[in-house]
Amino acid sequence: MSKEKFAGVKGMNDMLPQDAAIWQTLQSTAVGVLERYGYQEIRTPILENTKVFTRGVGEVTDIVEKEMYSFTDSMNGDQLTLRPECTSAVVRSVNEHSLLYGATQRLWYCGPMFRHERPQRGRYRQFHQLGAEALGMAGPDIDAEMIIMLGRIWKELGVGEVRLELNTLGALSERQAHRDALIKYFEAHKDLLDEDAQRRLYTNPLRILDTKNPDMQDMVNAAPRLLDYLGAESRAFLERMEKLVSAAGISYVINPRLVRGLDYYNHTVFEWITDKLGAQGTICGGGRYDPLIEMLGGRPAPGVGFAMGMERVIELMRECGRVPVRTQTDVYVIHHGGDTQLQAMLLAEAMRDLGVRVIVHPGEASIKSQMKKADASGAAFAVFATEDETAQGLVAVKALREGAGAFAEQTTVPAAEAAAAVAAAVKAGC
Ligand code: HAM
Repeated sequence: MSKEKFAGVKGMNDMLPQDAAIWQTLQSTAVGVLERYGYQEIRTPILENTKVFTRGVGEVTDIVEKEMYSFTDSMNGDQLTLRPECTSAVVRSVNEHSLLYGATQRLWYCGPMFRHERPQRGRYRQFHQLGAEALGMAGPDIDAEMIIMLGRIWKELGVGEVRLELNTLGALSERQAHRDALIKYFEAHKDLLDEDAQRRLYTNPLRILDTKNPDMQDMVNAAPRLLDYLGAESRAFLERMEKLVSAAGISYVINPRLVRGLDYYNHTVFEWITDKLGAQGTICGGGRYDPLIEMLGGRPAPGVGFAMGMERVIELMRECGRVPVRTQTDVYVIHHGGDTQLQAMLLAEAMRDLGVRVIVHPGEASIKSQMKKADASGAAFAVFATEDETAQGLVAVKALREGAGAFAEQTTVPAAEAAAAVAAAVKAGC
């Protein structure tokens, strides 16, 4: 037999059992907040037709140009892509099922996304996003509410100060005027443009503002700002949104160079950034994308949304010491001699009826070795179903941790009362 030991795919991680509690805490905390704002879950497939993303995210974006896992379905020739993000997929689904006819939608999702990026701390090829999309609502109140909701999520997660950067991409006509000005400006500074910027000069000059190249920073900082091209309506939109966000006590900075890496945005764009995670400090990004629903074949309707990178938020929770402790079980049942295994299994069922987490020792072993397993399981209580005691209709209970309250000393109780007594002790210790 082959002895080859397999490794996972580069940039794609296993979530191991010791990390389950922190993932669950993140999801349940965030979803708890989302539900208080009226959001409902949507699940879309991990695979979509490639066009959903080339049209949605945009042909000349990093994601579409070089990061998508795309392939031809060998069964029927379909061009498919593992989703690099979920906004386009949610909009595809909302259009397909006519969810916006005469209605608005507040939707959340959570799951794996795939981008063929260079793996490093905080950047993976399979990563997880928890995101939300508010569809069919045009006003700045919705953008503001979404930002306020995210502020509440960070607060309830206990991750401390996360910096909010805001910008506006205005309306299409304003962007066009700004784009023309940008191209003129960059043409005048062509000698300073790196290869990437040269390539984007006429296809996506806005993205040049996003450059990390230190040699281009001064030139880019002095580039024409979209804020100076905004008409009265876009200005009013931004001001109203800022007013609502400030009134909720959320501080932010306007970053005129924040353009985001996806093409579907207009008006508000935002990112939440932490300094605690090194280079990949953006834990959440989002914005308004009024053109997208129509771009993907739907009746024109506005939308705004966000997605947080769960791996990054989890690392931040760890940095802030927010690591929940959750043991594997509350009770470990030890059995020894005769058919005490059967008694143990019935007693365990009775405890589970009362909501207690129970592990029954598998198979047979000495009491000493079962005790070791009980200890290692993290259980608060051990229940002993031994031959002599069960013959008299009794079992013994012992607390395994200091401060467990009841059963500090090993105590014998009637088997018929054991489930209720242990359940009460577990509850009292919670
Ligand atoms: P995005 O900025 O591409 O936006 O991704 C959102 C977040 O996902 C990032 O801020 C980051 O935390 C996380 N993320 C992105 N790529 C990786 C990676 N390779 N490894 C780990 N984490 C990553 C979107 O995806 C938009 N769909 C957000 C949105 C929703 N806009 C409107 N609605």
